[in-house]
Amino acid sequence: MLRQEDNELLTRVGPGTPMGALLRHYWMPTLLSEELPEPGCAPVRTTLFGEKLVVFRDHNDNIGAIEEFCAHRGSSLFLGRNESEDSPDGQCGLRCVYHGWKYSYDGRCIDQPNEPKAKQFKDKIQLTAYPAREHGGVIWIYMGPKEAIPPLPEYEWTLVPETHRYISKRRHFSNFMQCVDGTLDSSHVTFLHADAPLWHPSWTHQMKGARKNVLAPPEINVRSTDFGLLVGARRDSENNMDYWRITNWIMPSNVTVPRDDDEPIGAHIFVPIDDETTWAWNISYVPDRPLSHRERTFYQTGGHIHAEMIPGTFDPVRNKENDYLINRDLQRTVAFTGISGIVMQDAAVQESMGPIADRSREHLGSADTALVAARRRLMAEARALRDTGALPSGRDPQSHHLRSISAVLPKNADWLQETIELRAVDVASYRRAAE
Ligand SMILES: [Fe+2]
Repeated sequence: MLRQEDNELLTRVGPGTPMGALLRHYWMPTLLSEELPEPGCAPVRTTLFGEKLVVFRDHNDNIGAIEEFCAHRGSSLFLGRNESEDSPDGQCGLRCVYHGWKYSYDGRCIDQPNEPKAKQFKDKIQLTAYPAREHGGVIWIYMGPKEAIPPLPEYEWTLVPETHRYISKRRHFSNFMQCVDGTLDSSHVTFLHADAPLWHPSWTHQMKGARKNVLAPPEINVRSTDFGLLVGARRDSENNMDYWRITNWIMPSNVTVPRDDDEPIGAHIFVPIDDETTWAWNISYVPDRPLSHRERTFYQTGGHIHAEMIPGTFDPVRNKENDYLINRDLQRTVAFTGISGIVMQDAAVQESMGPIADRSREHLGSADTALVAARRRLMAEARALRDTGALPSGRDPQSHHLRSISAVLPKNADWLQETIELRAVDVASYRRAAE
């Protein structure tokens, strides 16, 4: 349970809020690279932290992330022409279609053709512009203070070859913290994502050993680190061994969930569109092999941690308007929720809590240890930044070189010590392969 004022601190991200200031100190994924497929292509509109932006790739391959509206009379630059140096003024840039004012990727006004030459004042016009870079299949934007800009992130999925990853983004209709809470919450997996037959007595009685333990609640272990948290969920396994799943949370909203065997690892980043809407980024990747055609098709149709989208949008087919196409027959017979797709099962319950969950009315237990730790960390660092200017953690790319894993370990083993090698990312080999 949180005090109402702490819930406000945790969830409000607009300009001037402490959490908004904290989140702006990180590079945030903003567009898929394929949304800006080539130099000179059409500009894209997006909203981040309540700020409306237009993002474009100019003819010289510079990426601009500038405020959406022309400084002259405020019409949208989304309608603009992405012009090359072959245009009459000889410069690359985005030209407003209303009166022809033109902007460079860094937000400078570079042409003002509706004014006579002697009366032009273009040098006095500057749109808000944010640094934007392409890396790992994604366009990243940094909206924080220029003097505190960190190096680009190096999460493992950004380093693997393009063939080894699948990236999607989905518009999610709640505050970002409901998503962060949800991914740090190991005990929900046994319910929300379970097969319905697991909950039928005739099945449960026949099950033995590890399978039966799927229904047992995990013991949650949380270790605080310089970048965030490591969360170890321990369940009893066969032959006096323990089954561990280690989830990584890197400040402020990156969560990586482990795989079994040769399955893909799942990575999430939650980026506020505004207080009540979130870009949920979902990445499936395998460190050591290309994804198969079958896997990619599966993800496009809502498999693993991806959602089936309404074509041409980032909005899921299963959504609040249609009750996520919940099927009560399937709920009895196939899937615990009756909702198809893991990520839409998560979205349904998270969105059902309302746009900003009222955490002052919660009743948290030991199963919630990890999300409590993450909330405390976020609030402490947001306050520290506001009160002392202390830069938040998790911005050093060195701290991103970390894999989420599952392992069977002897009873009473040190879950972190015993898994150091399994969790390490061989960055040097990725760099060699990229050369
Ligand atoms: Fe989930």
